[in-house]
Amino acid sequence: NGAKPLEGQHILITAGPTREPLDPVRYLSNHSSGKQGYAIAAAVARLGARVTLVSGPVALAPPKGVDMVNVETARDMLKACETALPADVFISVAAVADWRPSISANKKLKLKDEGKTLPALSLAENPDILATISKKRKNRPGLVIGFAAETHDVEALAQAKMKRKGCDWIVANDVSGDVMGGAENEVSLVTRDNVEHWPRMDKTTVARNLANRIAVALGNPDGQ
Ligand code: C5P
Repeated sequence: NGAKPLEGQHILITAGPTREPLDPVRYLSNHSSGKQGYAIAAAVARLGARVTLVSGPVALAPPKGVDMVNVETARDMLKACETALPADVFISVAAVADWRPSISANKKLKLKDEGKTLPALSLAENPDILATISKKRKNRPGLVIGFAAETHDVEALAQAKMKRKGCDWIVANDVSGDVMGGAENEVSLVTRDNVEHWPRMDKTTVARNLANRIAVALGNPDGQ
């Protein structure tokens, strides 16, 4: 039906990888496709939410009716999120690079010609966007949802992660298989006092189920 249970809610979502430059032509990144985050953005928009999607570089079309903010680095992703606040819900789906090269050269590095020793790659820690938004005193979204990709002990690690990051829910998925980049996902929804295992399903179905759960949590499941 055309119910709009998320009407009037602002939902901020991050998706995709980040890209951390080493010089103008090289970067560190990961294999995140952005599919799950984009599907969630589309699903909550369909339920009437105003959606801001802060996305790293991906090969996907922007979902209909969503405000896009395109970024590259983790630090820019954090800035874009903070600019988009206040939001009622924050969903952190992006595969943020944990580290960036500590120096980004503004000229292409000559890695081979100069000197005989291999250049060392020195890294700096990126901000944790989920933890930063979760721990805000002012403007903390009422519902903060993180993702946890694990290869083992998925639910136990998700509980620990939820405490460490300060978020309210974790969508935990087992990435020991072919989930990254694939069309399907098998997740558990971990809340403070409950763990719910969902069977393997399409990323779009995961997104719709999650959107419905958010509508229930915000107290308006039927769009009244
Ligand atoms: O610690 P880990 O990377 O496993 O945590 C995953 C969750 O934290 C995801 O929701 C991801 O979007 C978020 N995250 C983040 N900023 C980082 C690292 C992870 O927002 N620098």
